[in-house]
Amino acid sequence: MQKLVIEGGYPLSGTIRISGAKNAVLKMMAAALLGKGKFVIYDVPAIKDVYTMLGVLTTLGVEAKLQDSVLTMEVDQVSGDTPTELVQEMRASIQVMGPLLARLGWVRIAKPGGCAIGDRPIDLHLQNLARLGAVIDESHGFITARCQRLTGQEISLDYPSVGATENIMMAATLAKGKTVIHNAAREPEIVDVQNFLNQMGAHVYGAGTSVIVVEGVDQDHLGSTEYTVIPDRIEAGTYLIAGAITQSKITLENVIPQHIQVLLSKLLEANAKLTVGLNRITLEGGKTILPTNIITLPYPGFATDLQPQFMSLMTLADGSSVIKETVYSHRFGHVEELRRMGANIQVDSNSAIVRGVKQLTGARVKATDLRAGAALILAGLAAKGTTEITGIEHIVRGYEKLVDKLRSIGAKIELVSEG
Ligand code: UD1
Repeated sequence: MQKLVIEGGYPLSGTIRISGAKNAVLKMMAAALLGKGKFVIYDVPAIKDVYTMLGVLTTLGVEAKLQDSVLTMEVDQVSGDTPTELVQEMRASIQVMGPLLARLGWVRIAKPGGCAIGDRPIDLHLQNLARLGAVIDESHGFITARCQRLTGQEISLDYPSVGATENIMMAATLAKGKTVIHNAAREPEIVDVQNFLNQMGAHVYGAGTSVIVVEGVDQDHLGSTEYTVIPDRIEAGTYLIAGAITQSKITLENVIPQHIQVLLSKLLEANAKLTVGLNRITLEGGKTILPTNIITLPYPGFATDLQPQFMSLMTLADGSSVIKETVYSHRFGHVEELRRMGANIQVDSNSAIVRGVKQLTGARVKATDLRAGAALILAGLAAKGTTEITGIEHIVRGYEKLVDKLRSIGAKIELVSEG
Protein backbone atom coordinates (compact mmCIF):
# COMPACT_ATOMS: atom_id res chain seq x y z
CA MET A 1 0.00 0.00 0.00
CA GLN A 2 1.30 3.40 -0.90
CA LYS A 3 0.19 6.86 0.09
CA LEU A 4 1.03 10.41 -0.87
CA VAL A 5 2.43 12.64 1.82
CA ILE A 6 2.29 16.39 1.23
CA GLU A 7 3.79 19.13 3.35
CA GLY A 8 1.52 22.04 2.52
CA GLY A 9 1.81 25.80 2.51
CA TYR A 10 4.80 26.22 0.20
CA PRO A 11 4.59 28.34 -2.96
CA LEU A 12 5.25 26.65 -6.32
CA SER A 13 7.31 28.07 -9.14
CA GLY A 14 8.46 26.83 -12.54
CA THR A 15 7.35 25.13 -15.72
CA ILE A 16 5.49 21.87 -16.34
CA ARG A 17 5.12 20.09 -19.68
CA ILE A 18 1.66 18.61 -20.19
CA SER A 19 1.46 14.97 -21.37
CA GLY A 20 -0.71 13.55 -24.16
CA ALA A 21 -4.45 13.26 -23.51
CA LYS A 22 -5.45 10.02 -21.79
CA ASN A 23 -9.02 10.23 -23.06
CA ALA A 24 -7.89 10.55 -26.68
CA VAL A 25 -5.17 7.86 -26.56
CA LEU A 26 -7.47 5.21 -25.06
CA LYS A 27 -9.93 5.65 -27.95
CA MET A 28 -7.18 5.64 -30.58
CA MET A 29 -5.97 2.34 -29.16
CA ALA A 30 -9.50 0.98 -29.63
CA ALA A 31 -9.68 2.50 -33.14
CA ALA A 32 -6.52 0.65 -34.21
CA LEU A 33 -8.57 -2.57 -33.91
CA LEU A 34 -10.48 -1.49 -37.03
CA GLY A 35 -7.45 -1.80 -39.31
CA LYS A 36 -4.48 -3.95 -40.12
CA GLY A 37 -0.91 -2.68 -40.03
CA LYS A 38 1.39 -0.69 -37.78
CA PHE A 39 -0.02 2.15 -35.71
CA VAL A 40 2.35 4.48 -33.92
CA ILE A 41 1.13 7.14 -31.49
CA TYR A 42 3.47 9.77 -30.02
CA ASP A 43 3.29 11.57 -26.68
CA VAL A 44 1.41 8.75 -24.99
CA PRO A 45 1.37 9.05 -21.17
CA ALA A 46 2.74 6.09 -19.19
CA ILE A 47 -0.29 5.80 -16.88
CA LYS A 48 -2.25 2.84 -15.56
CA ASP A 49 -5.28 3.29 -17.86
CA VAL A 50 -3.04 3.14 -20.93
CA TYR A 51 -1.37 -0.05 -19.61
CA THR A 52 -4.80 -1.57 -18.94
CA MET A 53 -5.85 -0.88 -22.54
CA LEU A 54 -2.47 -2.30 -23.69
CA GLY A 55 -3.36 -5.47 -21.80
CA VAL A 56 -6.79 -5.60 -23.46
CA LEU A 57 -5.26 -5.19 -26.94
CA THR A 58 -2.54 -7.75 -26.31
CA THR A 59 -5.11 -10.32 -25.18
CA LEU A 60 -7.08 -9.64 -28.36
CA GLY A 61 -4.01 -10.48 -30.45
CA VAL A 62 -2.34 -7.09 -31.01
CA GLU A 63 1.41 -6.74 -30.53
CA ALA A 64 1.61 -3.56 -28.53
CA LYS A 65 4.27 -1.77 -26.52
CA LEU A 66 4.79 1.63 -24.93
CA GLN A 67 8.31 2.96 -24.68
CA ASP A 68 9.50 6.54 -24.11
CA SER A 69 6.01 7.95 -24.83
CA VAL A 70 5.82 6.09 -28.16
CA LEU A 71 3.05 3.53 -28.45
CA THR A 72 3.44 0.95 -31.22
CA MET A 73 0.62 -1.40 -32.16
CA GLU A 74 0.95 -4.11 -34.83
CA VAL A 75 -2.54 -5.26 -35.72
CA ASP A 76 -3.31 -8.32 -37.85
CA GLN A 77 -5.91 -10.93 -36.84
CA VAL A 78 -7.87 -10.04 -33.70
CA SER A 79 -10.36 -11.81 -31.45
CA GLY A 80 -13.77 -10.47 -30.40
CA ASP A 81 -13.64 -12.19 -27.00
CA THR A 82 -12.50 -9.45 -24.62
CA PRO A 83 -10.67 -10.19 -21.31
CA THR A 84 -13.20 -9.82 -18.50
CA GLU A 85 -10.86 -8.83 -15.64
CA LEU A 86 -9.10 -6.08 -17.58
CA VAL A 87 -12.33 -4.77 -19.04
CA GLN A 88 -13.81 -4.52 -15.56
CA GLU A 89 -10.77 -2.61 -14.34
CA MET A 90 -11.50 0.31 -16.65
CA ARG A 91 -14.79 1.60 -18.03
CA ALA A 92 -13.15 3.01 -21.16
CA SER A 93 -12.61 -0.61 -22.31
CA ILE A 94 -16.18 -0.47 -23.61
CA GLN A 95 -14.71 1.53 -26.50
CA VAL A 96 -13.34 -1.66 -28.09
CA MET A 97 -16.92 -2.83 -28.61
CA GLY A 98 -17.77 -0.73 -31.69
CA PRO A 99 -14.48 -1.42 -33.54
CA LEU A 100 -14.51 -5.19 -32.87
CA LEU A 101 -18.16 -5.56 -33.83
CA ALA A 102 -17.69 -3.59 -37.05
CA ARG A 103 -14.59 -5.52 -38.03
CA LEU A 104 -15.43 -9.09 -36.96
CA GLY A 105 -19.24 -9.13 -36.92
CA TRP A 106 -19.22 -10.14 -33.25
CA VAL A 107 -17.92 -9.11 -29.84
CA ARG A 108 -18.33 -10.37 -26.28
CA ILE A 109 -17.62 -8.03 -23.41
CA ALA A 110 -18.31 -7.87 -19.68
CA LYS A 111 -20.87 -5.25 -18.74
CA PRO A 112 -19.16 -2.35 -16.95
CA GLY A 113 -20.45 -1.79 -13.41
CA GLY A 114 -21.27 1.46 -11.64
CA CYS A 115 -18.47 3.54 -10.17
CA ALA A 116 -17.79 6.07 -7.43
CA ILE A 117 -19.15 9.00 -9.43
CA GLY A 118 -22.49 7.59 -10.59
CA ASP A 119 -24.33 4.79 -12.35
CA ARG A 120 -22.80 5.33 -15.78
CA PRO A 121 -25.04 3.17 -17.97
CA ILE A 122 -24.08 2.29 -21.55
CA ASP A 123 -27.60 2.29 -22.98
CA LEU A 124 -26.75 4.94 -25.60
CA HIS A 125 -23.84 2.84 -26.89
CA LEU A 126 -26.01 -0.29 -27.17
CA GLN A 127 -29.17 1.33 -28.58
CA ASN A 128 -27.27 2.98 -31.37
CA LEU A 129 -25.00 0.07 -32.26
CA ALA A 130 -28.30 -1.83 -32.58
CA ARG A 131 -29.56 0.89 -34.92
CA LEU A 132 -26.54 0.25 -37.13
CA GLY A 133 -27.64 -3.40 -37.32
CA ALA A 134 -26.17 -5.17 -34.28
CA VAL A 135 -28.20 -7.81 -32.49
CA ILE A 136 -27.39 -7.41 -28.83
CA ASP A 137 -27.84 -9.96 -26.08
CA GLU A 138 -27.28 -9.08 -22.44
CA SER A 139 -27.10 -11.97 -20.02
CA HIS A 140 -25.17 -13.04 -16.91
CA GLY A 141 -23.25 -9.75 -16.84
CA PHE A 142 -22.02 -10.08 -20.43
CA ILE A 143 -22.95 -8.32 -23.63
CA THR A 144 -22.72 -10.25 -26.87
CA ALA A 145 -23.30 -8.36 -30.10
CA ARG A 146 -23.46 -9.83 -33.61
CA CYS A 147 -24.05 -8.38 -37.02
CA GLN A 148 -23.70 -8.85 -40.74
CA ARG A 149 -21.98 -5.76 -42.10
CA LEU A 150 -23.27 -2.71 -40.17
CA THR A 151 -25.35 -0.23 -42.20
CA GLY A 152 -25.10 3.56 -42.01
CA GLN A 153 -28.06 5.32 -40.34
CA GLU A 154 -29.29 8.69 -39.08
CA ILE A 155 -28.68 8.60 -35.32
CA SER A 156 -29.82 11.09 -32.69
CA LEU A 157 -28.27 10.78 -29.26
CA ASP A 158 -30.58 11.57 -26.33
CA TYR A 159 -27.55 13.07 -24.58
CA PRO A 160 -24.14 14.02 -26.04
CA SER A 161 -22.26 11.14 -24.39
CA VAL A 162 -18.54 11.19 -25.16
CA GLY A 163 -18.13 7.42 -25.12
CA ALA A 164 -21.29 6.68 -27.13
CA THR A 165 -20.33 9.26 -29.77
CA GLU A 166 -16.89 7.65 -30.14
CA ASN A 167 -18.10 4.06 -30.12
CA ILE A 168 -20.68 4.77 -32.85
CA MET A 169 -18.24 6.92 -34.85
CA MET A 170 -15.65 4.13 -34.84
CA ALA A 171 -18.14 1.37 -35.67
CA ALA A 172 -19.62 3.44 -38.51
CA THR A 173 -16.24 3.75 -40.27
CA LEU A 174 -16.71 0.18 -41.56
CA ALA A 175 -20.49 0.34 -42.07
CA LYS A 176 -22.08 0.21 -45.51
CA GLY A 177 -23.10 3.75 -46.44
CA LYS A 178 -23.35 6.98 -44.51
CA THR A 179 -23.97 7.46 -40.77
CA VAL A 180 -24.95 10.84 -39.36
CA ILE A 181 -24.67 11.29 -35.57
CA HIS A 182 -26.87 14.16 -34.35
CA ASN A 183 -26.41 15.70 -30.88
CA ALA A 184 -22.87 14.27 -30.85
CA ALA A 185 -20.51 15.17 -28.02
CA ARG A 186 -18.06 17.91 -29.07
CA GLU A 187 -15.02 17.21 -26.86
CA PRO A 188 -11.56 17.96 -28.37
CA GLU A 189 -10.59 14.30 -27.85
CA ILE A 190 -13.35 13.30 -30.30
CA VAL A 191 -11.82 15.60 -32.93
CA ASP A 192 -8.46 13.96 -32.25
CA VAL A 193 -9.93 10.46 -32.66
CA GLN A 194 -11.62 11.58 -35.90
CA ASN A 195 -8.25 12.83 -37.21
CA PHE A 196 -6.59 9.55 -36.24
CA LEU A 197 -9.33 7.53 -37.97
CA ASN A 198 -8.97 9.64 -41.12
CA GLN A 199 -5.22 9.10 -41.14
CA MET A 200 -5.96 5.37 -41.00
CA GLY A 201 -8.08 5.84 -44.14
CA ALA A 202 -11.58 6.44 -42.72
CA HIS A 203 -13.93 9.19 -43.90
CA VAL A 204 -15.23 11.08 -40.87
CA TYR A 205 -16.26 14.77 -40.80
CA GLY A 206 -17.75 17.21 -38.36
CA ALA A 207 -16.26 16.12 -35.01
CA GLY A 208 -16.10 19.15 -32.73
CA THR A 209 -19.62 20.11 -33.86
CA SER A 210 -22.83 18.38 -32.82
CA VAL A 211 -23.23 16.61 -36.19
CA ILE A 212 -20.69 13.97 -37.19
CA VAL A 213 -20.84 12.32 -40.60
CA VAL A 214 -19.14 9.00 -41.28
CA GLU A 215 -18.90 7.58 -44.81
CA GLY A 216 -18.26 3.86 -44.36
CA VAL A 217 -15.26 2.27 -46.10
CA ASP A 218 -14.14 -1.33 -46.69
CA GLN A 219 -11.84 -2.83 -44.10
CA ASP A 220 -8.83 -2.95 -46.43
CA HIS A 221 -8.99 0.87 -46.60
CA LEU A 222 -7.90 1.17 -42.98
CA GLY A 223 -4.17 0.75 -42.43
CA SER A 224 -0.92 1.89 -40.84
CA THR A 225 -0.45 5.41 -39.55
CA GLU A 226 1.60 7.60 -37.21
CA TYR A 227 -0.05 10.22 -35.05
CA THR A 228 0.72 12.66 -32.20
CA VAL A 229 -2.02 12.94 -29.59
CA ILE A 230 -3.25 16.33 -28.29
CA PRO A 231 -2.18 17.52 -24.82
CA ASP A 232 -4.32 16.50 -21.85
CA ARG A 233 -6.60 19.44 -21.02
CA ILE A 234 -7.63 17.97 -17.66
CA GLU A 235 -4.01 17.55 -16.57
CA ALA A 236 -3.36 21.14 -17.71
CA GLY A 237 -6.39 22.42 -15.79
CA THR A 238 -5.32 20.56 -12.66
CA TYR A 239 -1.87 22.21 -12.64
CA LEU A 240 -3.32 25.66 -13.32
CA ILE A 241 -5.59 25.25 -10.31
CA ALA A 242 -2.53 24.10 -8.31
CA GLY A 243 -0.94 27.46 -9.16
CA ALA A 244 -4.06 29.38 -8.17
CA ILE A 245 -4.65 27.58 -4.87
CA THR A 246 -1.02 28.04 -3.74
CA GLN A 247 -0.98 31.66 -4.99
CA SER A 248 2.03 30.84 -7.11
CA LYS A 249 3.37 31.61 -10.58
CA ILE A 250 3.61 28.58 -12.84
CA THR A 251 3.90 28.02 -16.58
CA LEU A 252 2.49 25.16 -18.63
CA GLU A 253 4.03 24.04 -21.91
CA ASN A 254 2.35 21.82 -24.52
CA VAL A 255 -1.15 23.02 -23.77
CA ILE A 256 -3.98 24.14 -26.11
CA PRO A 257 -5.56 27.13 -24.32
CA GLN A 258 -8.70 26.97 -26.49
CA HIS A 259 -9.50 23.53 -24.99
CA ILE A 260 -9.78 25.00 -21.48
CA GLN A 261 -11.37 28.33 -22.36
CA VAL A 262 -14.12 28.17 -19.72
CA LEU A 263 -11.67 27.17 -16.99
CA LEU A 264 -9.42 30.10 -17.93
CA SER A 265 -12.27 32.58 -17.63
CA LYS A 266 -13.26 31.06 -14.26
CA LEU A 267 -9.66 31.34 -13.04
CA LEU A 268 -9.67 35.03 -14.03
CA GLU A 269 -12.93 35.46 -12.14
CA ALA A 270 -11.23 33.81 -9.16
CA ASN A 271 -8.54 36.55 -9.33
CA ALA A 272 -5.67 34.70 -11.06
CA LYS A 273 -3.60 36.49 -13.72
CA LEU A 274 -3.06 34.65 -16.99
CA THR A 275 -0.63 35.11 -19.87
CA VAL A 276 -1.80 32.95 -22.74
CA GLY A 277 0.39 32.05 -25.73
CA LEU A 278 -0.09 29.58 -28.57
CA ASN A 279 0.93 26.43 -26.65
CA ARG A 280 1.80 27.97 -23.33
CA ILE A 281 0.01 29.46 -20.34
CA THR A 282 1.47 31.30 -17.35
CA LEU A 283 -0.72 31.67 -14.29
CA GLU A 284 -0.06 33.92 -11.33
CA GLY A 285 -2.38 33.22 -8.43
CA GLY A 286 -3.95 36.25 -6.73
CA LYS A 287 -3.31 36.94 -3.04
CA THR A 288 -7.06 36.69 -2.48
CA ILE A 289 -9.08 33.95 -4.16
CA LEU A 290 -12.46 35.32 -5.21
CA PRO A 291 -15.63 33.19 -4.99
CA THR A 292 -16.70 31.83 -8.38
CA ASN A 293 -19.74 29.76 -9.35
CA ILE A 294 -19.45 26.92 -11.85
CA ILE A 295 -21.83 24.52 -13.55
CA THR A 296 -20.46 21.41 -15.24
CA LEU A 297 -21.69 20.68 -18.75
CA PRO A 298 -20.64 18.73 -21.83
CA TYR A 299 -17.88 20.50 -23.82
CA PRO A 300 -17.49 23.42 -24.38
CA GLY A 301 -18.99 23.90 -20.90
CA PHE A 302 -16.99 23.58 -17.69
CA ALA A 303 -15.48 20.05 -17.62
CA THR A 304 -16.85 17.76 -14.92
CA ASP A 305 -13.34 16.27 -14.71
CA LEU A 306 -12.14 19.61 -13.27
CA GLN A 307 -15.05 20.14 -10.87
CA PRO A 308 -13.44 18.50 -7.79
CA GLN A 309 -10.18 20.43 -8.29
CA PHE A 310 -12.04 23.74 -8.72
CA MET A 311 -13.99 22.99 -5.57
CA SER A 312 -10.71 22.69 -3.65
CA LEU A 313 -9.80 26.16 -4.90
CA MET A 314 -13.14 27.58 -3.79
CA THR A 315 -12.73 26.19 -0.24
CA LEU A 316 -10.17 28.98 0.26
CA ALA A 317 -12.10 31.76 -1.49
CA ASP A 318 -13.07 34.99 0.18
CA GLY A 319 -16.82 34.26 0.17
CA SER A 320 -19.31 31.62 -0.99
CA SER A 321 -19.50 29.80 -4.34
CA VAL A 322 -22.06 27.44 -5.83
CA ILE A 323 -20.78 24.41 -7.73
CA LYS A 324 -23.41 22.59 -9.73
CA GLU A 325 -22.69 19.13 -11.18
CA THR A 326 -24.95 18.16 -14.09
CA VAL A 327 -22.93 15.44 -15.86
CA TYR A 328 -22.73 12.79 -13.12
CA SER A 329 -25.21 11.88 -10.43
CA HIS A 330 -22.74 11.34 -7.55
CA ARG A 331 -19.63 13.35 -8.18
CA PHE A 332 -19.16 14.80 -4.71
CA GLY A 333 -17.01 12.04 -3.14
CA HIS A 334 -14.29 14.60 -2.44
CA VAL A 335 -16.58 16.78 -0.27
CA GLU A 336 -16.39 14.60 2.84
CA GLU A 337 -12.59 14.45 2.55
CA LEU A 338 -12.21 18.20 2.00
CA ARG A 339 -14.31 18.72 5.13
CA ARG A 340 -11.76 16.68 7.08
CA MET A 341 -9.26 19.33 6.06
CA GLY A 342 -11.45 22.12 7.43
CA ALA A 343 -13.50 23.02 4.32
CA ASN A 344 -17.04 24.33 4.78
CA ILE A 345 -19.17 22.66 2.09
CA GLN A 346 -22.87 21.91 2.09
CA VAL A 347 -24.33 19.61 -0.56
CA ASP A 348 -27.90 20.02 -1.69
CA SER A 349 -28.88 17.56 -4.42
CA ASN A 350 -26.50 18.24 -7.34
CA SER A 351 -25.19 21.56 -6.00
CA ALA A 352 -22.50 22.26 -3.45
CA ILE A 353 -22.33 25.52 -1.55
CA VAL A 354 -18.73 26.20 -0.68
CA ARG A 355 -18.13 28.82 1.98
CA GLY A 356 -14.51 29.85 1.83
CA VAL A 357 -12.37 29.42 4.96
CA LYS A 358 -9.14 31.23 5.89
CA GLN A 359 -7.08 28.04 5.98
CA LEU A 360 -7.21 24.30 5.36
CA THR A 361 -5.31 21.98 7.67
CA GLY A 362 -3.50 18.78 6.72
CA ALA A 363 -5.36 15.52 7.45
CA ARG A 364 -5.41 11.86 6.48
CA VAL A 365 -7.82 11.60 3.54
CA LYS A 366 -8.83 9.09 0.89
CA ALA A 367 -9.08 9.47 -2.88
CA THR A 368 -12.36 7.90 -3.98
CA ASP A 369 -11.76 8.40 -7.71
CA LEU A 370 -9.19 9.89 -10.06
CA ARG A 371 -10.22 13.56 -10.04
CA ALA A 372 -11.30 13.50 -6.38
CA GLY A 373 -7.72 12.41 -5.69
CA ALA A 374 -6.38 15.34 -7.70
CA ALA A 375 -8.61 17.70 -5.71
CA LEU A 376 -7.16 16.39 -2.43
CA ILE A 377 -3.60 16.87 -3.67
CA LEU A 378 -4.37 20.50 -4.53
CA ALA A 379 -5.96 21.04 -1.12
CA GLY A 380 -2.93 19.39 0.50
CA LEU A 381 -0.53 21.71 -1.33
CA ALA A 382 -2.34 24.74 0.13
CA ALA A 383 -3.11 23.34 3.60
CA LYS A 384 -1.15 24.03 6.76
CA GLY A 385 0.73 20.92 7.89
CA THR A 386 0.85 17.38 6.56
CA THR A 387 -1.76 15.73 4.36
CA GLU A 388 -1.70 11.98 3.76
CA ILE A 389 -3.69 10.69 0.81
CA THR A 390 -4.58 7.02 0.47
CA GLY A 391 -6.42 5.40 -2.45
CA ILE A 392 -3.70 6.58 -4.81
CA GLU A 393 -4.38 3.68 -7.20
CA HIS A 394 -7.08 5.99 -8.57
CA ILE A 395 -4.65 8.86 -9.12
CA VAL A 396 -1.98 6.84 -10.98
CA ARG A 397 -4.69 5.89 -13.49
CA GLY A 398 -4.62 9.32 -15.04
CA TYR A 399 -1.68 11.58 -14.14
CA GLU A 400 1.70 10.88 -15.67
CA LYS A 401 4.71 11.46 -13.36
CA LEU A 402 2.49 13.47 -11.01
CA VAL A 403 4.91 13.43 -8.06
CA ASP A 404 7.94 14.29 -10.24
CA LYS A 405 6.12 17.10 -12.01
CA LEU A 406 4.91 18.66 -8.76
CA ARG A 407 8.31 18.27 -7.11
CA SER A 408 9.96 19.95 -10.10
CA ILE A 409 7.98 23.13 -9.31
CA GLY A 410 8.80 23.02 -5.61
CA ALA A 411 5.97 20.97 -4.05
CA LYS A 412 6.87 18.96 -0.98
CA ILE A 413 5.17 15.72 -2.00
CA GLU A 414 6.35 12.12 -1.67
CA LEU A 415 5.09 8.67 -2.43
CA VAL A 416 5.53 6.59 0.72
CA SER A 417 5.01 2.85 1.33
CA GLU A 418 2.66 2.10 4.18
CA GLY A 419 2.24 -0.86 6.50
C1 UD1 B 1 -15.74 10.49 -20.71
C2 UD1 B 1 -14.42 10.63 -20.02
C3 UD1 B 1 -14.63 11.06 -18.57
C4 UD1 B 1 -15.50 12.31 -18.47
C5 UD1 B 1 -16.77 12.13 -19.30
C6 UD1 B 1 -17.60 13.39 -19.36
C7 UD1 B 1 -13.08 8.96 -21.14
C8 UD1 B 1 -12.32 7.69 -21.03
N1 UD1 B 1 -13.72 9.37 -20.03
O1 UD1 B 1 -16.44 9.43 -20.05
O2 UD1 B 1 -13.35 11.30 -17.98
O3 UD1 B 1 -15.84 12.55 -17.14
O4 UD1 B 1 -16.46 11.72 -20.63
O5 UD1 B 1 -16.86 14.45 -19.85
O6 UD1 B 1 -13.08 9.61 -22.16
N2 UD1 B 1 -24.55 8.17 -20.04
C9 UD1 B 1 -25.74 7.46 -20.13
N3 UD1 B 1 -25.82 6.45 -21.05
C10 UD1 B 1 -24.78 6.12 -21.87
C11 UD1 B 1 -23.57 6.86 -21.76
C12 UD1 B 1 -23.49 7.87 -20.83
O7 UD1 B 1 -26.70 7.74 -19.41
O8 UD1 B 1 -24.92 5.20 -22.68
C13 UD1 B 1 -24.43 9.25 -19.01
C14 UD1 B 1 -23.37 8.88 -17.96
O9 UD1 B 1 -23.91 8.08 -16.96
C15 UD1 B 1 -22.93 10.24 -17.46
C16 UD1 B 1 -23.09 11.13 -18.71
O10 UD1 B 1 -23.91 10.41 -19.61
O11 UD1 B 1 -23.80 10.68 -16.45
C17 UD1 B 1 -21.77 11.46 -19.38
O12 UD1 B 1 -21.14 10.27 -19.78
P1 UD1 B 1 -20.21 10.17 -21.05
O13 UD1 B 1 -20.17 11.49 -21.76
O14 UD1 B 1 -20.59 8.97 -21.83
O15 UD1 B 1 -18.80 9.93 -20.38
P2 UD1 B 1 -17.74 8.79 -20.70
O16 UD1 B 1 -17.54 8.66 -22.15
O17 UD1 B 1 -18.06 7.58 -19.89
